[in-house]
Amino acid sequence: MDFENENKYIKYVDNLVPRPDIALEVMTMAHDTHCSIPEMAQKIEMDLNLTANMLRLANSAYFGHMREITSIKDIIVRLGLETVKLIAITGASAGLMKSPQQAYNLEPGSLWHHSHATAILSSVIAKYARIADDGPIYTASLMHDIGKIVLNRPLQLALSNNKKTGKKFRSLVELEEYFLGTNHARIGMALLVKWGLPENIYLPVGFHHTQEGEETKHINVKIVSLSNFLVESIGIRSLMPDDYVFNIEEFVDQNLIIPEIPNFQENMETIIDEFFIKFNKTADLI
Ligand SMILES: [Fe+2]
Ligand SMILES: [Fe+2]
Repeated sequence: MDFENENKYIKYVDNLVPRPDIALEVMTMAHDTHCSIPEMAQKIEMDLNLTANMLRLANSAYFGHMREITSIKDIIVRLGLETVKLIAITGASAGLMKSPQQAYNLEPGSLWHHSHATAILSSVIAKYARIADDGPIYTASLMHDIGKIVLNRPLQLALSNNKKTGKKFRSLVELEEYFLGTNHARIGMALLVKWGLPENIYLPVGFHHTQEGEETKHINVKIVSLSNFLVESIGIRSLMPDDYVFNIEEFVDQNLIIPEIPNFQENMETIIDEFFIKFNKTADLI
């Protein structure tokens, strides 16, 4: 894949987010099959914010523990390897995702809210698709809109210089492509490739707004696109959890038949209920 155009924009990414180095290293470590937990714990503890985020998550109702968890080592011992990876990935991406994105009309925190919701819904759907390891889908969902962080500034500039064009766009991707020659999905993919994350994570990011082509047949791409679409439809952009609504009738005509997820249409209500229970337990933690 050629990312010549994208690399122009991602060159400056290190200036956009606080301490991306540790968050990224932790995320990469968590996806490595030979991940050393003591090493990862040491890395996490170098970042106070990440440590605090992880402790809040570990102590949340989501994991339902009675005795307070007070250290990263404690999380590992009490919640196990898979859970600590999940919490590390969540905590790390919150750090990357919390800045405001004015060009996209996103308030501080709303990109994080939307990304976190997409990740939770994806992991519920992955269970129905009988995917044993939902880690890559979860991470891809958390990162699917990370390109917006990179394109926020260039898009803001382009929009203010082009106020008079009066051109109408059918989608955000179309607008981004018109002004910048690329879109946030492709930028996100270029970034994750640069960071060394595997294909089953960068493909769903790069193709979450694409309808056709070989890549869209990948099950991770399908699930991340679907979750993003449903989360958008519920309205998880910047509102508070209580205000979200899901109108099942709206989706009956949408032809959401995915062979890899048996009876998706029939199970949709249960899936969304499960999602809300999990989401409401964690939405305001970080
Ligand atoms: Fe997107
Ligand atoms: Fe999205």
